[in-house]
Amino acid sequence: MQITPDLSRLLNELETLASFSDAPAPAVTRVVFSAQDLAARTYLRKLFSEAALEVRTDAVGNTFARWVGADPALPPVATGSHTDAVPHAGRYDGTVGVLGGLEAIRALQRSGFRPRRSIELLVFTSEEPTRFGIGCLGSRMLSGTLSPESARQLRDGDGKSLEEILRQAGFDGSLENVRLAKDYYHAFVELHIEQGPLLELKGIPVGIVTAIAAPAALRVTIEGAGGHAGAVLMPDRRDAFLAAAEIALAVESAAKGTRSGDSVATTGVCKVFPGAVNSIPSRVVLEIDVRDIDLARRDGMLSAIRAACETVAAKRQVRAEVELINADAPAQASPLITKALSASCRTLGIEFMPMVSRAYHDSLFLSRIAPAGMLFIPCRNGVSHRPDEYAAPEDIKRGVQVLAVALAQLAE
Ligand code: HGY
Ligand code: MN
Ligand code: MN
Repeated sequence: MQITPDLSRLLNELETLASFSDAPAPAVTRVVFSAQDLAARTYLRKLFSEAALEVRTDAVGNTFARWVGADPALPPVATGSHTDAVPHAGRYDGTVGVLGGLEAIRALQRSGFRPRRSIELLVFTSEEPTRFGIGCLGSRMLSGTLSPESARQLRDGDGKSLEEILRQAGFDGSLENVRLAKDYYHAFVELHIEQGPLLELKGIPVGIVTAIAAPAALRVTIEGAGGHAGAVLMPDRRDAFLAAAEIALAVESAAKGTRSGDSVATTGVCKVFPGAVNSIPSRVVLEIDVRDIDLARRDGMLSAIRAACETVAAKRQVRAEVELINADAPAQASPLITKALSASCRTLGIEFMPMVSRAYHDSLFLSRIAPAGMLFIPCRNGVSHRPDEYAAPEDIKRGVQVLAVALAQLAE
């Protein structure tokens, strides 16, 4: 089977998709259900229709583009990723898996291959936690990890509910119908940039993911006394920001304290109220991201952070409320997928290496309902979630070829 991706077409489509952004190039900001996200979705649906795929969208905005196979009753083979982007991100995170998945399907179509099982391309809603504070909203609901009731509790930074935002974006239908049955898919394979430096450092063009790290997130709300920056003397203060600062340092200590290089923790959000230079911070909201490939170590960090919140709150006479946003188990890649990907690399004569994913992905949740796995391509200096994120055209091409051959083998 000769699989020849149309690289220039794919690069143009990546360029066009990157133009749907609320930040000036080369940065990309595309928050879920923003006007730019909705415009990007319209663009993608056009591309899917041009490829003669059957397109549907579910009540939470997950989009499905199906190449109907010779035996449409069989559970399909799926691939896909996300196109929402964190603020001031790059243009390859997620999009390589969506447009690369589309080009893998088109290259198979051009080769004359006819799949027995349908091949379905998915675009998951809200993989990034930017708007609702929780990542992988669409794939959590598809896999039943997040219930419709819990989804209805979600609010964005302006206090708008998910349902209100969905209605305004034109997504109707019942959230109860989003969940897919276990084994709805025969297999799920996601192509993604590595978002780390290993492949580039080792000079190996493809990574086959063996496991996806266990992500967790906390929200800590610290209430102090506030007051006039000139009038309240230092001994009389209960400064919420200084308590938050100590907690943020404790987050770093919790990760370093495990003595494992696989433990990471980040205080990525810090909202200070009232946010006036001459007002002592009365309330601070921190959002903390905690991960490890080992579940016990990950949970040990969560406990250490909770304990630090209590100690700092007592010492500084503030209130610290700790809310667990999510704490997910890690995922092991399915041998069905890793075997298909390694066979594909061998067929194509492309060197590969097994590796873990420290970023989470929609595959983490698809693995709850189907055999799932991922393949990585290098990204320059391992940089991601930054405007200088970059994947070389030849690496993108190889990723699409490996994906296409694996999809064909799984769909036979
Ligand atoms: O944060 C992550 O791991 C993913 O990029 N959303
Ligand atoms: Mn990301
Ligand atoms: Mn991603």
